[in-house]
Parts: sequence; C-alpha cells; structure tokens
Amino acid sequence: MLPPWLGVLGIPAGLEAGQIRVNEIAPDVSMLPTLDDVAAHVASCTSCALYKGAKHPVPGEGHAQADLLCVGEAPGAHEDEQGRPFVGEAGQLLTKILGAIQLSREEVYICNVLKHRPPGNRDPQPDEVIACQPYLLRQIELVRPKVILALGRFAAQTLLQTTTGIGTLRGKIHRYHGVPLIVTYHPAALLRNEQWKRPTWEDVKLARRVLDAARAATSGTE
Ligand code: URA
Ligand code: URA
Repeated sequence: MLPPWLGVLGIPAGLEAGQIRVNEIAPDVSMLPTLDDVAAHVASCTSCALYKGAKHPVPGEGHAQADLLCVGEAPGAHEDEQGRPFVGEAGQLLTKILGAIQLSREEVYICNVLKHRPPGNRDPQPDEVIACQPYLLRQIELVRPKVILALGRFAAQTLLQTTTGIGTLRGKIHRYHGVPLIVTYHPAALLRNEQWKRPTWEDVKLARRVLDAARAATSGTE
C-alpha cells in the first residue's frame, strides 16, 4: 500500500522490498557514522574477491543528503580507473538524463550495487551481491533519499528481489525499505538501444513527480 500522498499520483503500486536490516547482517557497517566512513570501509573490504582485481574502490559520490539516490550495477573500467561511479560514456549520459529533470550530479547521490569492478565487466555473482549489500543499505540509511532510481535490470531485480523483467517493473512505484523506488533502463543499454530513450524519459519524469510529491509531503516537517 502506498501512503496517501503517493496514492494520489495515480501511479500503480509495485513491489515492497527490503526486509534485511543492516544492523542484523553487518553491525560494524551499521555503526559507520558518515558516508566517508562507509567509503573507507569499502576501501579495505575483503568480504568478496573483487578487491583483488580492482584498481580502486568505487563506493559512490554525491550529496550526503540527496533527495534522489541512483543505483547502478557495478563499476566499469573507467570507474575502476578513477574510483568514481558513472564517469564513462554511460555516466555522461546519466548526467544528461538527470539534467533533463533539473537535477545536477552534485545534488543527487550515485552509487552501485557492487563497489568493486567485476573482472571484464562480467555479471555480478550472488556471493558478491550479498557481501556488498551492507554498504548500499548503510548509504541509504545515511542519505535518507526521498526517491531511489534503479538503473537497469540488474539493480532493479537485485533491490526488488525479483526476476520480473525491466519492462514490467517500469512505470510503477515500488518501495525499498519504505523509500519509493522507480525503475528505468541502464544508460549503457540506452547507448545501444535508441528506442529506449523515450521510455527512459517517461521514467525519469515519473521519478521527478514522486520526488516533488515527497518534498511537498515532508515540507515543514524537516
Ligand atoms: N555502469 C554501472 O552500472 N555503474 C557505473 O558506475 C558505471 C557503469
Ligand atoms: N537489460 C539491462 O541489463 N538493462 C537495461 O536497462 C535493459 C536491458
């Protein structure tokens, strides 16, 4: 059930996910007081083997109190090189997509499900996702975004704990740990498939509407 202020938008409710609490799976991570502390923890993380092949950790970056949090899959080669998320060609497209809904990279928070690059950009493995999960959960707790934008099939299915395809997940207001979550195509997929540009535009406009509704609903209360 969506709260009334979301229900009035007339957008179908999607999945509710996020039962796992970070203090239950990783008490040490749950106590990290700031995003910088999370990043430092990621930098020395050996919970899965990915750190061995990576050049740099890519914890995430952006505004510490961002209203929109974008979640991708995992760092690619450019991200691994620079230690920053979404800085390659897909990242430049993400910056443009955010600009289309009047958001700058500086005012959102951008991160990935995995914080180290999988070798050769292979798909993340389940044990890697489980090992990395506390970091994203803690980042969400610290940032307290009003909306989460899941970029691409992998991020969407991982966060929502589903195998449903991205086409079906789009256009709904899901919730992850209570935070409204919107699904869209991955910018890297857009670079290969022009026909997904228009649906992506629809998705980010929806994310913007939810963001505005959330801001209106909480104005005066924080
Ligand atoms: N693709 C992702 O999923 N994340 C990045 O940071 C870059 C490319
Ligand atoms: N497949 C993906 O992995 N991502 C998309 O955005 C679309 C198809």
